[in-house]
Amino acid sequence: MFLSPDEEKMLAGENGETLQKMLELLVALGKVFGAERLVSIRSAQVSGASFKTIGEYGLAWLSSLDARAVVPAVLNPIGMPRGRWEEMGIEPVFAARQQAVIAAYKRLGVNLECTCTPYYLHETSFGDHLAWSESSAVSYANSVIGARTNREGGPGALAAALVGKTPCYGLHLDKNRRPGVVIEIKSDETYWDIARYGALGYHTGKLVGNKIPYFQGIAPDHDQMKALGAAMAATGAVALYHIHGITPEARRTQFIISDLEIIRIESSEIDQLFTNTPIDAVAVGCPHCSPAELIDIARLLNGKTVTKPFYVFAAQGVIDNNSMTVNAIEKSGARVYADTCMVVSPVMEQYQAIMVNSGKALAYVPDMCGAVARIGSIEECVEVATS
Ligand code: F3S
Repeated sequence: MFLSPDEEKMLAGENGETLQKMLELLVALGKVFGAERLVSIRSAQVSGASFKTIGEYGLAWLSSLDARAVVPAVLNPIGMPRGRWEEMGIEPVFAARQQAVIAAYKRLGVNLECTCTPYYLHETSFGDHLAWSESSAVSYANSVIGARTNREGGPGALAAALVGKTPCYGLHLDKNRRPGVVIEIKSDETYWDIARYGALGYHTGKLVGNKIPYFQGIAPDHDQMKALGAAMAATGAVALYHIHGITPEARRTQFIISDLEIIRIESSEIDQLFTNTPIDAVAVGCPHCSPAELIDIARLLNGKTVTKPFYVFAAQGVIDNNSMTVNAIEKSGARVYADTCMVVSPVMEQYQAIMVNSGKALAYVPDMCGAVARIGSIEECVEVATS
């Protein structure tokens, strides 16, 4: 693997032990995956932020590092909202360990916006090289924005943030971004909402595994693509997809798809995922809500009072920029929390059955929260939470 003179010096330890170890990690990754060089990144997004997932061992490792991020670096959601953890019912013992994790990342210069939607807060453009680790963010960056990132592990993303570079392999290269399977959607309905795209992603991810799908017959907006990609990354290993005439690379590139396998998905296959299971809480914002989603939730909750716990998750920056909308949502008794989500917060483990409007949450809630998950439209979520 080619290293520049400055990179060679860093590898020899001239910039300190932490950077030496971080670069060793990046070079080792690069060698495993056949990278010829490192590439500079515009930003990093670092998973392994919830104490629920990294535990004492991860915290000790973070605390042992001594360097600062040299590119904008954002954390993935943690186990609690930093400012409202008591109100959410987080145990003080957990909160103390979570705060120690946050403090360790802060010392490393990682921005404490804890979100899986960093693209709402930091400009990310077509062709940017990134080192992001949360799978839905990776899918959105690659597919909807046309930026380039592999799905980094937490340590790899942190190493990239501290060094400012990542090994140039996989989805950083044109040759690995071509579609591998065509997905044809057959539906008589002209409009699919976010939940339905999430359910389509849930179903498609199971069918395609790690191939890059090329969709035909759908025209989702950005929030719907966010839901589609998040779910495919959860049930499959899809880090990039294309949609004919919609996603930026599909618009700019004449992909040759005539020799690819075609999978046809009927609307009825998606219908089967929507059930009437009784539930005891509702949680939306997986991935974290966009401003438009918050406005929609506020509109639907207007004049209503929730009768079941109703959690809405969004990035702190999005909440701050939409405070009137958030206040309108909370007037109903629903709660809008930053920094965390229904999957990484231990609070959600108290429920037996959780309703979501996300294909990704449908996939993760059973294992991560020990609860039954039911998917429904945002209208159904509000209806169930207020009836
Ligand atoms: Fe984000 Fe949590 Fe869903 S990290 S994508 S809200 S599982």
